Amino acid sequence: MSTAGNTAGPPIQVNPNLIPDMADPIPLLQRLQEEDHIHWSGDAGAWMITRYDDVRAGFHDRRLAVSRPMPAPERFEEEFREIYRAYRNSLQTWMVISEPPDHTRLRTLANRGLTPTAIEAMRPQISEIVDGLLADMPASGDCDFVKSFAYPLPAAVIALLIGVPTTILHDLHRWSDEIAKGLGAPGEDIIRPPAYATYEMTAYLMDFIAARRANPQDAIIDLLIAARDGDDRMSTDELIGNLILFLFAGHETTMNLLSSGVRTLLRHPEQMQDLRDNLDDRSVVAGAVEEILRYDGALFMLMRYAAQDFEWHGRSISKGDKIFLYCLAANHDWRKFEQPDRFDIRRPDSKQHIAFGYGPHFCLGGPLARLEMEVALPALLRRFPKLSLAHDDVKWRNNMSLRGQPAMQLRIGA
Ligand code: HEM
Repeated sequence: MSTAGNTAGPPIQVNPNLIPDMADPIPLLQRLQEEDHIHWSGDAGAWMITRYDDVRAGFHDRRLAVSRPMPAPERFEEEFREIYRAYRNSLQTWMVISEPPDHTRLRTLANRGLTPTAIEAMRPQISEIVDGLLADMPASGDCDFVKSFAYPLPAAVIALLIGVPTTILHDLHRWSDEIAKGLGAPGEDIIRPPAYATYEMTAYLMDFIAARRANPQDAIIDLLIAARDGDDRMSTDELIGNLILFLFAGHETTMNLLSSGVRTLLRHPEQMQDLRDNLDDRSVVAGAVEEILRYDGALFMLMRYAAQDFEWHGRSISKGDKIFLYCLAANHDWRKFEQPDRFDIRRPDSKQHIAFGYGPHFCLGGPLARLEMEVALPALLRRFPKLSLAHDDVKWRNNMSLRGQPAMQLRIGA
């Protein structure tokens, strides 16, 4: 266990548990960049890393492990222990928290279903889903954009990509909300809700896989089932664990990005006008998506654990310490981006953001998330020439890692 006292003491104290609820956490994170860029928070028992170069280096530094220590089952009441064991076993198979060689093997397998051609081939289907959702939105008045669009779009797309029926979308939303708590929800139970959700998802997928094996199609689930059944050495637990990861990661973040993107554009009318004037220009739309990812990219930070004792910029990190890599702060570091707090859809270097992480765990679904945004934004803006925020009183999701709004009221036609 480290102490803050490696040096004379940090100039400021920041409690990362309070960050999710802040209307604008960036000034505080930028203060850390200047005053204590490798900051020990006693409140969270974690190091907060905020500068671009450090966060990026942290993503591919093998001294920072992704695999997480989990409490022993004996710490829980007896009736819950079986569910907890199953949850712990499932997490151990998730590629995002696996180390090599397991990580390399699982990622290589999953990557086969996510080739650029396979993703681009989804464009017409994504367009169709987008048009259907937009047609169902009211032509005027207030409406919750998250409920009517930002959630259902990525959920339907990930279901299509993975190969599960859309009938599970309602449950998927609930399961994902519960699983997200496992990433850190201050003041809430971060073990039981994700454990029960994982249990339910596992039961569903077991049945679904059994049925699908008899009738294979052409989706990721079929590819992974074949890998489990063939020579590619994927166990049933790994198959199910990584399907859960995909279903969760595939829509939760994109949902947040869609709503934060629309909110950011509406709060920057000149940028919105520039985008509206150039909706047929794919490079302008793509630039807007990259700048949205940089400016407010759906994640605060990603968690790592020190795999060994080491020194980092004069700070003594101890084996087992938690390390929070703040991508949101990194993407607002003036050392990397000129005037980082200016939202500019024509920024030439916005693509250098690290909203999708970096290094071995770099997001596998980045191209799909980008495609969804590039199809959805122009269609939304064309359908609604007049759009505004009904209010800017945002209640943020209580999560230390995922940044998003559970609801966002849009005013259509005004
Ligand atoms: C706005 C949308 C998205 C954002 C901001 C995002 C962000 C990220 C980040 C930062 C990581 C790295 C995690 C780490 O290093 O600990 C990651 C990994 C991952 N993402 Fe995404 N993601 C998005 C969408 C998606 C989608 C649509 C999918 C599925 C199709 C997906 C699947 C994954 C998977 C499987 C990994 C683990 C990769 C590995 O461990 O090798 N993500 N994502």
